[in-house]
Amino acid sequence: MMVDWLFKNVTVIDGSGGPQYRGDVAVAGDRIVDIAPSLNVDAAQIINGAGQVLAPGFIDVHTHDDINVIRMPEYLPKMSQGITTVIVGNCGISAAAATMKGAVPDPMNLLGEAQHFIYPTVEAYAQAVEAARPALNVGTLIGHTALRNNHMDNLFRPATVSEITAMRNDLREALKQGALGMSSGLAYATAFESTTEEVMALAEELSEAQGVYTTHLRSEFEPILEALDEAFRIGRHAQVPVVVSHHKCAGAKNWGRTKETLAFFDKMRAQQEIGCDCYPYSASSSTLDLKQVTDEFDIVITWSEPHPDQAGKKLQQIADDWQMSMLEAAKLLMPAGAIYYNMDEQDVRRVLSYPVTMIGSDGLPNDPMPHPRLWGAFPRVLGHYCRDERLFPLTMAIHKMTGLSAARFQLPERGLIKTGYYADLVLLDPQTVRDVASFSDPQQPADGINAVMVNGVMSYGRDKHIIGRAGRFLRRQSQSGKE
Ligand code: ZN
Ligand code: CU
Repeated sequence: MMVDWLFKNVTVIDGSGGPQYRGDVAVAGDRIVDIAPSLNVDAAQIINGAGQVLAPGFIDVHTHDDINVIRMPEYLPKMSQGITTVIVGNCGISAAAATMKGAVPDPMNLLGEAQHFIYPTVEAYAQAVEAARPALNVGTLIGHTALRNNHMDNLFRPATVSEITAMRNDLREALKQGALGMSSGLAYATAFESTTEEVMALAEELSEAQGVYTTHLRSEFEPILEALDEAFRIGRHAQVPVVVSHHKCAGAKNWGRTKETLAFFDKMRAQQEIGCDCYPYSASSSTLDLKQVTDEFDIVITWSEPHPDQAGKKLQQIADDWQMSMLEAAKLLMPAGAIYYNMDEQDVRRVLSYPVTMIGSDGLPNDPMPHPRLWGAFPRVLGHYCRDERLFPLTMAIHKMTGLSAARFQLPERGLIKTGYYADLVLLDPQTVRDVASFSDPQQPADGINAVMVNGVMSYGRDKHIIGRAGRFLRRQSQSGKE
């Protein structure tokens, strides 16, 4: 037997959460073809992996990379973390199945400018991904806010019956073409006025396809339990899995309350399928939101359309300079982006450790001064939280980035090191892996991610400057079997 690649003497962490073991792993074409304590096969290329961990390529379940994976197909912010698949279309905003008539509404402006929204269907988006040949695989959710924007002249009200029908038609078609599910961003003003019934009606379209419902909750502040209850009700109504996006308790008055939210998860998980994703930082980032302006914690402006020179400064500092209130300053800065230091470290740890929590970066790739999660989320979990802080074992950390995520988003034959599975793999040094990206210097590749393979093609090496381009568009597997 002749294979393309042989990883010798690696420590295999297979993504299932089960124990690690020493062995050899062979790859031929785009698949893992053999795994054994010692393989005697001819290989075109042999990698001696002694002392290193071989894991399934990481799946970033929460991204806003929709347009950037096409425009910058090498996609170093993610490849350099060992990520081999990104799920786009989160927080109610997707480029797929979106049409833009006028100005790009907040927060769709996180994805790109009006001229970048050129994918009216999932099929059009899939073709663009395939044509761009990005380095990593891409699967998409359909954003509720994107659907609203397709059919509503005014987003600051509930949708009418006929608008809901039109949105359902779009979503049904998108699911047929392989979308993984629907996301919502109910906290944002552009979706906040939608009723629970509006979202439930759309979620009905997910039932048959068993697509997932992911949600940026209506509130991550004091009313978070009510917001969770709404999300879970929508999931029960449609009988589909719910993924709570970037679960956190935001705002000083809310600190410590993940004890309550996770107890509620526990209770409801007995009745329905629920998961969540989380990024490993106690600061959040999004567009600047007047409702979140407060003096309880620092807010740093990352970009501002009218005042680009203010990027990198604290909102408090800008308000002092301009001799006005923070709220007045915020109004003048908008549209803008911000980092909010609005979480409690203990809450972050509790959520990260929770058994059904997946890792999702929520990175914002168009931000000139991005939150470091864009380049650092996955290695920060592996280095800082797992190795240095001993929050959980490495097998568990990797499970939260691979096997758990592939199962939740129905990505067949990915997320595990298993014979017959796709050869999406990452070779990393467990002693040195760490996030280098920081708040002051956020665009830095991680240390310790030594090789990344996507669909059997060696695609990234920390010091070797390999740039492979073997990513694919991943469609939801139909319930009846293979497509
Ligand atoms: Zn969000
Ligand atoms: Cu998000």
